[in-house]
Amino acid sequence: MIPIRHILFLVSGVSSFIIFYMGLVNYLTAVEADTGMILLIFATVVASGTLLSTVYISKSITIPIEKLAQNMTEFSKTNKIRDKKPINTNIKEIYELNENFESMGQKVEDTIFVQKEYVEKLKEIDRKKAEFSSMVSHELKTPLVPILGYVQMLQKQELMGELNKQQLDAVDEIYLSALKLQRLVGDILTTQKLELGKLEFNQENTDITKLLNSIIKDFIPVISQKNIHLVKDNTENIIIFSDKDRINQVFSNLIKNAIDFVESEKGQITIGAKMDKEFIKFFVKDNGVGISETDQKEIFKKFYQIDTSTSKKRNGSGLGLAICKGITEGLGGKIWVESKENVGTTFYFEIPKQPIKVNSKN
Ligand SMILES: Nc1ncnc2c1ncn2[C@@H]1O[C@H](COP(=O)(O)OP(=O)(O)OP(=O)(O)O)[C@@H](O)[C@H]1O
Ligand SMILES: [Mg+2]
Repeated sequence: MIPIRHILFLVSGVSSFIIFYMGLVNYLTAVEADTGMILLIFATVVASGTLLSTVYISKSITIPIEKLAQNMTEFSKTNKIRDKKPINTNIKEIYELNENFESMGQKVEDTIFVQKEYVEKLKEIDRKKAEFSSMVSHELKTPLVPILGYVQMLQKQELMGELNKQQLDAVDEIYLSALKLQRLVGDILTTQKLELGKLEFNQENTDITKLLNSIIKDFIPVISQKNIHLVKDNTENIIIFSDKDRINQVFSNLIKNAIDFVESEKGQITIGAKMDKEFIKFFVKDNGVGISETDQKEIFKKFYQIDTSTSKKRNGSGLGLAICKGITEGLGGKIWVESKENVGTTFYFEIPKQPIKVNSKN
């Protein structure tokens, strides 16, 4: 880009030179020396006048325009109209242009200020809400410990006396409901901690093959009840330096979902891990009902559940995948899904092999 001042000087310089040159040629070739001299003096005066007027125009027009342009560039970077350079001009159009720019800039600056205050207030309200519900969930969790303890004592009849069949059924029902409530409260607390950035992660060397085996072992009772297969597809010997329990939690949430969405007798669930440059890519694959493309974009949001008859029967709360997302991201990785309706679903999540900066307990 060429500054307007340089263009003006170039044009006026060339014009002045041509006028002076023509006067000089005229003087040297003139028959009458006096006429030639008059023309030369005239050409010199015109050339100097052109140069002087260029300097004047440059001062009164180009300098304020340049300053205005600089102020605009600065404003676009800082959004602060107060930092502008003062512009003194007697030219009406430039004066009005500057006035309009200043008033517009002031409005933008005020709007940004109000918006920032508004965002801060919203963040504060959000934080207070999260802290309040975190406190409520914590208070709900405490009485569940004696409830579960006493129910378990009632179930062991030798401790608190014999119960008839009806009473025992009622106690079993209380036990299952209290367990569900405990899980729900736990999930809400984990989600809140993730949101407040307060969930702590542990880091230790973990053998992936051992981890996958122990996860499968935990699910044996449930998969045998539904008569489905849960297998490991893992040939590599991988060690990861990360939070074993949180990885286990992600796998458990994904496997629980897969179990719910495959057909009894026909269900096939495969879990595994693969090395992928700096990441380990884990997966949980099922041959269940699948997830539509529209729902795939939503399922990682809190409390999102696909409205199917299966979902209604499952009694889930829609927090499982939001927790998986929070944990994988907290561990420096990510989670995603690939699915085809009526064919099956694969959830992938990858986690860095090397230690990264996390909210660590260590
Ligand atoms: N493997 C899967 N196959 C089909 N649909 C799935 C699968 N996994 C998740 N979904 C759908 O995604 C929704 C959200 O799953 P998410 O685990 O977050 O919640 P949930 O299982 O309903 O409840 P929660 O895990 O909190 O008990 C589920 O309700 C279900 O509709
Ligand atoms: Mg779930």
